[in-house]
Amino acid sequence: MPEGPTPPPDFLADWHSLAAECLAGGRLGERELLDAARRLLLPASRKVDWPKAGGECGAIIRERDWSASPEELDMAVRTKVRRSPEAAKAAAISEAKAIAPDRAARIGSTPATTFRGDPNIFGRLVEDHDKHRALFAMIEDTVGKSPDRVRLFSELVHEIKGHAAAEEQALWSTVLRNPETTEDARHAVAEHKEIDDMFADLAARDMASPGWLRRFAATKEKYLHHIREEEQEQFVAAEKHLSPADMRHMRSVFNRRKSAEKSGAEVERKIKLKA
Ligand SMILES: [Fe+2]
Ligand SMILES: [Fe+2]
Repeated sequence: MPEGPTPPPDFLADWHSLAAECLAGGRLGERELLDAARRLLLPASRKVDWPKAGGECGAIIRERDWSASPEELDMAVRTKVRRSPEAAKAAAISEAKAIAPDRAARIGSTPATTFRGDPNIFGRLVEDHDKHRALFAMIEDTVGKSPDRVRLFSELVHEIKGHAAAEEQALWSTVLRNPETTEDARHAVAEHKEIDDMFADLAARDMASPGWLRRFAATKEKYLHHIREEEQEQFVAAEKHLSPADMRHMRSVFNRRKSAEKSGAEVERKIKLKA
């Protein structure tokens, strides 16, 4: 892969700086936008339909009144580049597939949610949830203590630990402070602890033993239940009390905290559940 600046962790979050760079250079054509996008965001390119993204960004930039504030520009760009639910789900699955390309990631149908593809915090969280659904399915496609199982399990645990901690910091801490949604936040955070214990228990046991996959399936069921409830109940309740600016801000806090929490996550190995 050619060298370039460190890419931002999230493609959509960088649309504003992409647009600003094009403006600063006086380059407003779609071709130039596309080149800037490639240079800035190269490692994220597998997620992006480049001709479409460049065309949309170019159209937005030509339409804009450049006396508008960066926030207004940011909102216009984000609104315009909302991804379709199908594209968002496919991008999340392909992130999981990058860990072990030969493994099947059959996640089947997912519970209905209006948040998938949304350019704010809730769409970002569902994107992670879809990646987690794919990782669970891929692990079930492995056998014994194979390198793929070891690698996928490590990725899943780091992903979920990073996601849960960042979700608590970006979303649930705020939702907790509103008496009308305190219970939703408490419920979600309590489940994070239960799930963390289940992963510590799995990490302490022999992956090649016959009981491991059975325990793994129970953890999967618990986690899928947790994220379905978030998507269909707790996010829906929380959204009613948040402004668009809150939700955009939460997305950037989440992205920042997720990468820090994921890279700093330590996998606890401790038998916590009954045999
Ligand atoms: Fe959660
Ligand atoms: Fe979540």
